[in-house]
Amino acid sequence: MKMLIIGGGGREHAIAWKIAQSPKVEKIFCAPGNPGIADYAQCLNIDVNDITSLLTFAYEEQIDLTIVGPEAPLVAGIVDVFEDHDLRIFGPSKVAAQLEGSKQFAKEIMEKYDIPTARYASFNEAKAAKDYVRKHGVPCVIKADGLAAGKGVVVAFTEQDALSAIVTIMEDKAYGEAGLQVVIEEFLEGEEVSILAFTDGKTIMPMVSSQDHKRIFEGDEGPNTGGMGAYSPAPVYTSEIKKITEERVLAPITRWMKEEKISYHGIIYAGLMITKSGPKVLEFNCRFGDPEAQPVLMRLESDLVDIMLAVTEGRLSDQEISWSDDASVCVVLASGGYPGGYEKGKIIEGLDKVDEAVVFHAGTREVDGKVATGGGRVLGVTAKGSSIHEAINKVYPEVAKISFDGMQYRKDIGQKALKRTSK
Ligand code: AMP
Ligand code: GLY
Repeated sequence: MKMLIIGGGGREHAIAWKIAQSPKVEKIFCAPGNPGIADYAQCLNIDVNDITSLLTFAYEEQIDLTIVGPEAPLVAGIVDVFEDHDLRIFGPSKVAAQLEGSKQFAKEIMEKYDIPTARYASFNEAKAAKDYVRKHGVPCVIKADGLAAGKGVVVAFTEQDALSAIVTIMEDKAYGEAGLQVVIEEFLEGEEVSILAFTDGKTIMPMVSSQDHKRIFEGDEGPNTGGMGAYSPAPVYTSEIKKITEERVLAPITRWMKEEKISYHGIIYAGLMITKSGPKVLEFNCRFGDPEAQPVLMRLESDLVDIMLAVTEGRLSDQEISWSDDASVCVVLASGGYPGGYEKGKIIEGLDKVDEAVVFHAGTREVDGKVATGGGRVLGVTAKGSSIHEAINKVYPEVAKISFDGMQYRKDIGQKALKRTSK
């Protein structure tokens, strides 16, 4: 089969690494890809949002399966366009992708299907939003309704922070149209977990659990990032929490897809807060998490292409999906200054010395035949072990072999899991 992956980060590298192991795959293309992905795929100079060029390429090359990594082309409706041209593509339809593309839309679905989530109010006028904050107080969470590259959410502990978030989103329009509306949520306390699942619109098959580390500094301090590391499984996701999540979150989403005839052939990702009163949904995403895809796909034993074909053909319920009992840990190496401004083009040393982990490239580029930094999150070093403890002990010595000017990473990835399992 000829495959096309859309995207060029750590998530897409993990997808490429996994599908390259499938005997069904003859050739992989990736748009735009990166120097790590180039080990498995022919990289194309096409932007992920250039749907017309992606379609033309897939059509002319007779691609058998296109896999969409990031949310932006999904929310823009790439799946509908490909399907209209009889091209097989893995991802939700434009309507289904609204689950991630509009916080307000997701809240309405959760309300309608009685899915546990934070209480909220939504506004399309800054003044009303500010009045609400003044009346209801803090802490609260201010969210731009639309896609804001992971930056449109502010957890506010002071009224000043809440009000200035409203100004940034609604008055300064920092995220453009994404901020025409804001959702203001009750602040939830607890530990977060990411539940990614395959779905064909009729059946939802959850993957193993994982936990991201969103803040830049150790101990969950500092600003939010795209994710500084992740591990799988997450012990906070006990069998009891799993049962509740399946009944109260995944089953109602299946009902939504069936009752409203939603065409969804891809990944659904529930970001949960495990609170004292049980799991509550923070957000839905319509794609693999990044970095969660790295540790989760490291544990997938089944052929990912078989699963994706079953998803696109609506026969997911027949699939047996097997997972390794091993745990996995992914440590993200980021550019100095990230998530604020940072320099690019720093030469990365030591990649060839890594032998006990897989290094997924997130933001890299080639400079004079060498691999250099090209983004905020640069690499995701991922290792497996018989426990989280072992995987941590394996991954950090591998991280230490890699260096580039300004490199920063968290040394506490997986520590929350250790506290729970006391291993
Ligand atoms: P979201 O994009 O909606 O998942 O929000 C990004 C991050 O903000 C989440 O991963 C949480 O860390 C935090 N967050 C979002 N909503 C809430 C909430 N209601 N209470 C506490 N933290 C939240
Ligand atoms: N790691 C969080 C996300 O992919 O949205």
